[in-house]
Formats: sequence, structure tokens, C-alpha cells
Amino acid sequence: MSEVNVSTRSPTPKRGNPQHIAIIMDGNGRWAKARNRPRIEGHRQGAEAVKRTLTAAQKNGIPYITLYAFSVENWNRPAAEVADLMQLLEHFLSTQLKQLIEQRIRFRVIGRTKHLSEKLQVKIKDTVAATAHFSDYTLTLALNYGARTELVDALQAIGNKLQNGTLDLADVDYNCIQQHLYTAELPDPDLIIRSSGEYRLSNFLLLQSAYAEIYFTPTLWPDFKEADFEAALADFKQRERRFGNTQDTGNETPVTAIDNHPLSS
Ligand code: FPP
Repeated sequence: MSEVNVSTRSPTPKRGNPQHIAIIMDGNGRWAKARNRPRIEGHRQGAEAVKRTLTAAQKNGIPYITLYAFSVENWNRPAAEVADLMQLLEHFLSTQLKQLIEQRIRFRVIGRTKHLSEKLQVKIKDTVAATAHFSDYTLTLALNYGARTELVDALQAIGNKLQNGTLDLADVDYNCIQQHLYTAELPDPDLIIRSSGEYRLSNFLLLQSAYAEIYFTPTLWPDFKEADFEAALADFKQRERRFGNTQDTGNETPVTAIDNHPLSS
């Protein structure tokens, strides 16, 4: 597989590229419907798009990819689709572990994983353990994830510490809240991509994306290819990231995503 070519490389982010890209993979159902195929076929092809995306990200030296694979709201779908999705996720972890190791990708999950099936939880635990020693690239799957439940979980953890005296109220600032989010160990996403032409964030990384650039593409997720990924990167590089500041500094040169990026010198 072509992935092998990049497996031994350390990340060499191209200048101005985002450090962390988070993706709302939407459009699997419409892809299947347009072909008179069952929805699960769209999800299966979506899993193929995940593999292509990981390779494209590694080619571009993007260290962090986070994928919205199953939201807390997705339990409301027909039971058969939920079961199919869970089976697909198990299958993905079983079959992709070798590939993740070859590509030196650390695997993590964010979300209320304790509500997932025992079998899936074991797969997740094994995959996390088998890839824990990698540090160059991180794939995070958001599974049974919702930004609002994440906030509730963080506030409950903080509340417990306040109650048992291990935390002072005076020390509760955003940094403290951030440290109690599922993403405590991840940098905030620089770029959020949403496929399928929908323009919303759907309860995904709402706090973390406070200053993220957002890229919407009409491409349905199963059709998402390396060229789509590259187009999102090219668009990101054109953005002017201000982080609440102003471009009007009196300098001739505008502040761009490249100048402002933590990876640029
Ligand atoms: C949204 O499309 C997609 C999902 C709810 C699931 C995402 C899952 C995958 C991409 C496949 C498996 C993932 C991994 C990591 C192996 P939709 O079904 O809402 O599409 P629609 O809006 O066209 O109906």
C-alpha cells in the first residue's frame, strides 16, 4: 500500500499547514441513497475515505487528525444502522491496527466510551495500548461524543474536586476547564472540515474550535479524496487568522495563517 512509503517519516509540516484538523464526515447516507444502496454501504465507503485521509494528512505532515465518527445524538438513528456502524467501527479497528502501527499513528478516542459495547471498548483499549508509544501522529476518533456532554463531564469532574478540596474555586479558569475536557492532551483544532454541503458544527468540539477556521465542501464523505484534502489545506493557507486581534498593525504585511501558526518560526 502507498501508506508504507511515509510510515517511517517524522512529521514535516509544510509551512502554514494546520497542526490539527478535525473532520465532520457527513454525507454517507446521501451517497448510498443516490446509488440505491443501503446506508451502511455509504458508511463502509466512508471508512475507505478515512484511510485515504490519514495518508493524505501524513503526506502533509499534519500531526493531529480528529474524526467525528459517532455522536451522542446518533443513538437516535434506527437500531439497525447503529448496530451496523458499531460493527464497522470494530472491523475498522481490527483491520487497521497493523496499518496504524506501520504509519506510526497513535490512536485515541474522545467521548463517553463507557456506553459503547464491551467488545468495542476492548478493541479501543487494545488499539490505544498498541499505539501509545507513537508521538508523531495522532488519530482521535470522537465516539459517542458531544460537546455539551463533554462540558457536563468536565464540570462534574471539577465540581467533585471542589467538593473534596483538591481544587480551589479561585483556580477555576478556562485553562482548568480545558484540562478537564476529553481533549486535554490535544491542541485546539486549527481547521474544521465538514463534507456534504451542510453548514453547521453539530455539537462537535465547540469550545476547542473557538478560533478554528472552518471549511465546508459539497463533496459527500465517501467521495472525499486526497485532492479534497489538499483543497482544504490550500484554502486554510489563504485565511487570515487574527485570534481576536486586528490586522491593522501599521505593518505593510498582513497577518496570515502562515505567520500566525504555532509551527511557523
Ligand atoms: C454522517 O453521515 C456520518 C456518520 C454519522 C458516521 C461516520 C462514520 C463513518 C465515516 C464510517 C466509519 C468511520 C470510521 C472511523 C471507520 P450521514 O449518515 O449522516 O449521511 P447523510 O447526512 O447523507 O444521511
